Formats: sequence, C-alpha cells, structure tokens
Amino acid sequence: MQAFEFYSPTKIIFGPGTESQVGTQAAAWGASRVLVVYGGKSAVKSGLLDRVVSALHASGMAYDTLGGVHPNPHLSLVRDGIQKALDFGADFLLAIGGGSVIDTAKAIADGAANPELDIWEDIWLQKVKLEKALPVGVVLTIPAAGSESSEAAVLTKDETLEKRSYRSDLQRPCFAIMNPELTFTLPPYQVSCGIVDIMMHTMDRYFNPITSNELTNEIAEGLLRTVIRNGRRAMEHPGDYQAMSELMWAGSLSHNGLTGLGGPMDFATHQLGHELSARFDAAHGATLSAMWGSWARYCLDTNPARFAQFGQQVWGLDAAGKTEQEQALAAIEATEDYFRSIGMPTCLSELLGEVQSPEVLDTLTLGCTFHGQRTIGSFRVLGHADILAIYNLANH
Ligand code: NZQ
Ligand code: ZN
Repeated sequence: MQAFEFYSPTKIIFGPGTESQVGTQAAAWGASRVLVVYGGKSAVKSGLLDRVVSALHASGMAYDTLGGVHPNPHLSLVRDGIQKALDFGADFLLAIGGGSVIDTAKAIADGAANPELDIWEDIWLQKVKLEKALPVGVVLTIPAAGSESSEAAVLTKDETLEKRSYRSDLQRPCFAIMNPELTFTLPPYQVSCGIVDIMMHTMDRYFNPITSNELTNEIAEGLLRTVIRNGRRAMEHPGDYQAMSELMWAGSLSHNGLTGLGGPMDFATHQLGHELSARFDAAHGATLSAMWGSWARYCLDTNPARFAQFGQQVWGLDAAGKTEQEQALAAIEATEDYFRSIGMPTCLSELLGEVQSPEVLDTLTLGCTFHGQRTIGSFRVLGHADILAIYNLANH
C-alpha cells in the first residue's frame, strides 16, 4: 500500500427535503452574500431555485444568481461569474446542479478570492499556487460527476476547446445537500451517463499498478456491484427513491478518493473522453463508455489477472476452465454489454453518429497529449502512439 493522505471534509446532508436546510448550512460557514449558480432550465422548472433562494432569504442572506451553465462548462461564463461575484461582494458560492454547475461555482470561488490572478493562465494551468478560495456549498441534482465532494473541477476554454481539470483541496465543497427526490426529473440519458461516470471514477482507480490493497479493492468492487444493480433498477423504475439514493451516495464515494486509496490513479479513460467532450460537446459519461472497452482491450496484456479479478468480483463471472486472458475478455464484454443495456455507447459511431476521419483522430490524440507534453494513465502509461491506437480501436 502506497503512503496516502485522505481528506474528505465535505459535510453530507442526505435525505428528502434537505434543501430546506440550505440557509442554516450556509450560515454555519459565515455566508452573508451568496452567489447562486445554476444550469439551464431544470432547477427553474422544478421550482428548486425558488425554494433555495427563499431559504437563503429566510436565513437573512443577500443573494444574486448566475444561470446558464452548459454541460461541459465554459471558461467564458466563469469569467462573467467572477466579475459578478466581485461586483456583488459575494462571500459564498452555492451551486444548484451537477458537475458542470458545481465546477463553475468552484472556479468562480477560486477567481473571486484572487482577483489579481487570471483564472485560466494562473490558476487552472497552475502557474501560481492558490492560497485561498471562497467557500462553496452544493445542492446536488444529479448523481454523476462526484464534484460535490471532490477537489477537482473541469473547464473548457471556449476559444481553443481545451478541456482541463484543476485540483485543489481549497475548492472542495464545505457541504453537499443530497436529496435523491431532486433527481426524479432527470432524463433517462442523463441517469445512464451518471451511472457510467460513477463506475468509471471507481474503475479509473481500480485499474492501477498496485492491486494488492485488499480493503480498497473490496470497497471499489462493492461500490461497482451496488451501482450496477441499482443502475438497472433506476432505469427500469424511474423515480425509485431507493435506487437513486444508492446511486447518489455511490457517486460521492466514488470520487472522494476512497475507492483508490493506497495506489496511483489511472484516469486514462477520462482523459480520452475529455477530448471528445471538448470537440463534440458530448455528455461526459457517454464519452467514457465509448472509450473504456477500447482502452481495456489495448491495456489487457499489462495485467490480465486484474481484469479477471474484476470479472469475478464485479460481474460474478465463472473462472472455471478459462485462461486469465479469456476471463479478462469476458469481463470487458460484460462491462460493454451493461453499458449498452442502459443505452450508453461503446464506440465512436455510437457516440457521435459516424466513424471519424484519421485527421479527427490525430487532433484528438494531439489534444489528449497536451500537444506532446504529457502521457496519460498509470495502469499502463500511454503516449502519443498508444492514444492514437486506442482512438482507432474505438473508431467503428
Ligand atoms: O442545466 P440543467 O437544465 O440543470 O440540465 C442538466 C444538464 O443538461 C441536467 N440536469 C441536472 N440535474 C437535473 C437535470 N435535468 C433534470 N432534472 C435534474 N434534477 O443534466 C445535464 C447534465 O448536467 P451536468 O452538470 O453536465 O452533469 P454531470 O454531473 O455529469 O457533470 C458533467 C461535468 O462534470 C465534469 C465533466 O467533465 C463534465 O464537464 N466532471 C467533474 C468532475 C469533478 N469536478 O470532480 C469529475 C468528473 O470526472 C467529470 O470530469
Ligand atoms: Zn467523470
């Protein structure tokens, strides 16, 4: 087991009606002027935005709002938000939504606390070490990205279509209000994307060079089994409170560090997927299911036993009479079958409607290597030629 630090300070307030506590929770963090960030129409249509600002008002807080966050959120809106936060004198950011809204709020919190720094050049590209950020609270409306308890945020720079993540404990939310009922208005496609994302946060940690961490392995395998089972249930019975509860809680635990403790993260599939989101504005979870099988087949020989273990422990596959190689392939097929069963793509044509030209694959590869400046992954370290080969494998 590698040495590690585990820091997961986000206070979770879970259950029906918990959004009514938003004022008292924010007050506990010293909030008096709150910038409320939300997405497109969902929080307005459901009445959630109204309920939340009423609760803030009832707790004696002033608030302003910033709506219009798109999935795969853009830097330009973050810049507008930082200005708005400064003009309003915000001392607290409240996100109502999923990963895109939360990440936008995190970036505004970073930028508004450091107006002398440029949010992209200085903070996101890590030219300057951040010393402070405004506190961020969350009312979560989709079990997916896990941003409500993670130290990460992901933005796309509009002009260059670079999608980059930034990590800092300063931007971990101080609280996350999680009412599974708020997810009942989600379109089925977004539920599926969330299921894949939660699985991939776990699998992008599970497949790493250190496979001997027993407790971490069992936490990851148990979380995956729970998500697979309840993902099916949520798709078959929309509005199933118990299923959405399991998914919502799993979403937070899958990305707060717990499922990969004691080993390095891999996250190659996420990096391959980010290029697809940036260039085609594809939903995050769908980019992951489209790439994982190709990543797995390409990397299988690095450690077939790990894939075999994944097949037995997560998918309940019978190992009798099979080589590790055969077990590994069966595990990959089981995963792809599951993705397809919940309506998720497993290749580029299913994701984007057509196969892509060699020029597009070159562009994706170049973007994924940050123009030759980095490799990705830890289970198997992948350079330019590997990444291009994986995009090619997925291109059918
Ligand atoms: O904008 P609205 O109208 O709210 O609609 C959203 C959006 O269209 C909709 N939605 C959310 N809650 C809803 C709802 N619709 C109806 N009822 C509800 N209750 O769902 C759509 C997707 O929302 P989004 O926030 O984009 O989803 P998700 O949570 O999957 O976030 C994706 C973003 O998070 C990043 C991704 O790269 C992507 O940009 N990630 C952030 C991470 C982090 N900060 O730790 C880690 C992840 O790996 C991921 O990279
Ligand atoms: Zn993700």
